[in-house]
Amino acid sequence: MHIGSIDTLFRTMQERGRRSYGLTGLTQLEHGLQAAQLAELKGLDPTLTIAALFHDIGHLSYRRDIALADDGIDNRHEASGALILARLFGTKVSEPVRLHVAAKRFLCAIDANYADRLSPDSQRSLALQGGAFTPAEAEEFYALPQAPRAILLHQIDDEAKVPGAATATLERYRLLAESVAHGLLQAAS
Ligand SMILES: [Fe+2]
Ligand SMILES: [Fe+2]
Repeated sequence: MHIGSIDTLFRTMQERGRRSYGLTGLTQLEHGLQAAQLAELKGLDPTLTIAALFHDIGHLSYRRDIALADDGIDNRHEASGALILARLFGTKVSEPVRLHVAAKRFLCAIDANYADRLSPDSQRSLALQGGAFTPAEAEEFYALPQAPRAILLHQIDDEAKVPGAATATLERYRLLAESVAHGLLQAAS
C-alpha cells in the first residue's frame, strides 16, 4: 500500500489498525494511541508524539495480518515505516521510528537485565531482530544524533501495551500531525 498523504496515513491506521498487536491483546490502533498518549504525558515534543502514534505503521503497510514474530520472520517494519514517515513529516519523526528496534537492542546490550523486563512479544521479536547489540554496535548506535529520541520512543513503545486503557481518538491527532508536517511545530532537539 502506498501511503503518500496524511489522509491515507490516518485511513490506514483507522482501518488496518484493527489488526491485533502481537501477543498483547491490543489492536495496532490502540497500541499507537497509547504510545502517543504516553509521549504527551511525558511532555515530549510534538514530533515524538507523532512518531509514537505511527511508529509501527510499517506493520500495516502489508496486506495480510501479521502475528508479530509468530511466523519467524522479521519484516523490518521500522525501515518501511520510517520511509513512509520521512516523506510526510521529515527526519525528526522518521529517524526515531527507524531506530526504535535498534534502541531496544542497545538497551539490552548496556543493561543485562533489560531483556527480562521487556513485554513478552518484544522479547520474542528481539531474537529475530538480531538480539542485543555487541559493544561495538552499541557504541555506533549511541553516536547517532537521534539515539536519545529513539530510546525514548522505544521505552514508550514497551509501556503502550495495556489492554483496555482509555485513550483519545485517532482524529484528535490530525491537526497535530498536519502542523508537524507543515513544519509549524518543531522538535525540541
Ligand atoms: Fe515496532
Ligand atoms: Fe510498537
